[in-house]
Amino acid sequence: MLNRRKFIASSALTAVGTYLFSKNAGDKQISADEEKVNDIASIIATWPNEKATTAAWLKLSETNYSLDAVEAGARVPEADVLDTSVGYGGYPDRDGRVTLDACIMDEKGNAGSVVFLEGIMHPISVARKVMEKTPHVMLAGGGALKFALAEGFKTENLMSDHARVTWEKWLTDNNYHPGNHDTIGILAVDAKGRLCGACSTSGWAFKMNGRIGDSPVLGAGLYVDGTVGAAACTGLGELVLKNLCTFLCVEFMRQGKSPQEAAKLAVNRLFEKIPGLANDTSKQVGIVAMNVKGEYGAWAVHDNFKYTINKEGVNTVVDSKFGK
Ligand code: GLY
Repeated sequence: MLNRRKFIASSALTAVGTYLFSKNAGDKQISADEEKVNDIASIIATWPNEKATTAAWLKLSETNYSLDAVEAGARVPEADVLDTSVGYGGYPDRDGRVTLDACIMDEKGNAGSVVFLEGIMHPISVARKVMEKTPHVMLAGGGALKFALAEGFKTENLMSDHARVTWEKWLTDNNYHPGNHDTIGILAVDAKGRLCGACSTSGWAFKMNGRIGDSPVLGAGLYVDGTVGAAACTGLGELVLKNLCTFLCVEFMRQGKSPQEAAKLAVNRLFEKIPGLANDTSKQVGIVAMNVKGEYGAWAVHDNFKYTINKEGVNTVVDSKFGK
């Protein structure tokens, strides 16, 4: 473990230079079979999220604290108008309201969460303030907004033109099927072995007003045990909420499983509990996992889940393994 920690530490020192000179020239895409299991990285995130993992890496190189890194990473899709599942540009609920869920957890088990937050570009940063400045874990709706404003956050219109047009079309079609949720879940370990995580989403497109997903719920969308490992989920939050997939995944790591084995076992629990899931491709869940050594892995219910790792400032997008 010591050698791996040293590796992570030396990586942090060299990577900024690597990044500055190469930009993302080293980025690549590979299948999970090509990726060595028990390989190590500093950062892992759901989906092809290279801009987020790069921002996280740069922040890690600057402050050497993985909590800063995961917050910086999650802020990237939150501000990206083209990302229709997170923050600004996220699809609204059926009433035309963009409502955001996010949570953050540090290596000591401290946590902060916001649910049903409206009009604030960076819910992950509000969640961090909840963790650091209140005796609470979770703030909702108007109370979360009041707190954010008191902390100096500004309200903005988060509904993009594209989201409005898509919502207006949805109102005429009115198809209320589970859709893909490109939630960002991001985990990072720093040179001191501090493991932290963050998760942020605008949730299920055109959801019922008031619906909360898994992403802001500890043990569902995100869980960190700084002595063991961390996991984050993307996909259909209702399945994740009912099965506490990230808590389960971390518990499997506690029992000695690798992150990849733990993610697979957590996904297998979904197959056990939900009849017909293997044939229902409308119901996708993906889990990314990392342990305190920086070993990482992922598993999904169905094909087409990808994740991004960052090693020494270089991103790699990996096709996740999936199925039973
Ligand atoms: N996984 C995001 C959501 O269901 O809201």
